[in-house]
Amino acid sequence: MNETAREHPPVDIDAATAILRQNDRGGYTIPTDGLYPFQWSWDSAITGLGWISIYEPRAWQEAETMFRGQWDNGTVPHILFHKGAESYFPGPDVWGSGTKIPSSAISQPPVWATTIRFMYEACRDKSLAIENLRALLPKLMAYHEWWYRERDPGNTGLVCSYHPWESGMDNSPAWDKPLGVVPGVSWVYKRRDLGHVDAEQRPHKPEYDRYLYLVDFYKDHGFDSQYIYDNCPYKVIDVGIVSILQRAGTDLIELCRIADYEDGVEELQTELERTRSAISKLWSSERCCFFNHDLITGQALDEVTTATVLPLFGGLADKEQAAAMAALIDEWLGATKVGLSSTHPSSPRYESQRYWRGPVWIHINWMIALGAADYGYSAIARRLQDAARDCVTAAGFWEYFDADTGDGCGGDNFSWTAATALFWLSKPA
Ligand code: GLC
Repeated sequence: MNETAREHPPVDIDAATAILRQNDRGGYTIPTDGLYPFQWSWDSAITGLGWISIYEPRAWQEAETMFRGQWDNGTVPHILFHKGAESYFPGPDVWGSGTKIPSSAISQPPVWATTIRFMYEACRDKSLAIENLRALLPKLMAYHEWWYRERDPGNTGLVCSYHPWESGMDNSPAWDKPLGVVPGVSWVYKRRDLGHVDAEQRPHKPEYDRYLYLVDFYKDHGFDSQYIYDNCPYKVIDVGIVSILQRAGTDLIELCRIADYEDGVEELQTELERTRSAISKLWSSERCCFFNHDLITGQALDEVTTATVLPLFGGLADKEQAAAMAALIDEWLGATKVGLSSTHPSSPRYESQRYWRGPVWIHINWMIALGAADYGYSAIARRLQDAARDCVTAAGFWEYFDADTGDGCGGDNFSWTAATALFWLSKPA
């Protein structure tokens, strides 16, 4: 059917709003009940975009609560365990961080400054926003400084990641090789995810054993950043994190200008410049994307996933690279039934419903659409938005969607899907 002639029914704003209210635990929003009962960092950031159109003070509170769990060294953990919950594994005891708000010991894609900038632009009460910005900016700056200081001590311009969970794209086939050499734990544990979601949609046990080995590794070495940098058996450059950090850094500088805050801005500009010069090392002219990179073996992780086109979102591509990625996305959208699949369907590792190995994630489609529009590819941005909207209107607000059928997968009534629908899908491209 002719794309322009096709009908794309509107999203149900009331249903999306009800999901955020239902997942609100008083100051923070859980991703979904049961499967993810705590505050996850990048989920929470994206969820703020939904709250801003419902009730502005609640959106600012979402950020305030997350940054209350910031570590003294500046990192923002990927999970804050505000309360005990039996339904999730691995919990605070396994992570062993010992922080005042129990937390995990890794971070997640640092999208906060970007979503906060969008919140600022969308809000009506600018004085409330400035008040919140003044409190948040030193914390955001410390967080960005942590990434560069602890994850790129050699100043290469490309920060690294120590765990597939840190990428937020936990089970991506891009991590198969580097994770494959990590030993597995031999202690016995009981996974909780399989009690909530079909095993077909979740990772296998050997992968879980290795995920847990890494968790033990940080704890056993007292979270010593130098030791971990030198010895962690898993160390990759994740193009998704690099790109999200880059856009967030640019947004942070803009927020600092708005709120008249100067500390750290110049140093941040230097870091952004360094990344801009370094990123070309990851470019594959053959595959038209930026490959993730294994720092242990020195090899490119040559799997085409949604992370590998996120430099569009980060403003890190030059004109030719952007054109090549736009052509790739055009072809990729044509090869996927709904939205942009998290792994390209031509990959032998593609699985349409196993998490991060194929399914469509709406907030990632949003990021790529934004990047495409920034580079002038508005038709691609529109197609991504229409396809994402179709997923939600046909199936509901799921965690992710089967890339072959559009069926909802993972957890239902999911906060970031509802928030992205409120912020993005309810508006024209
Ligand atoms: C899964 C996802 C991760 C997300 C979390 C909570 O672990 O892979 O990206 O933050 O669920 O939704």
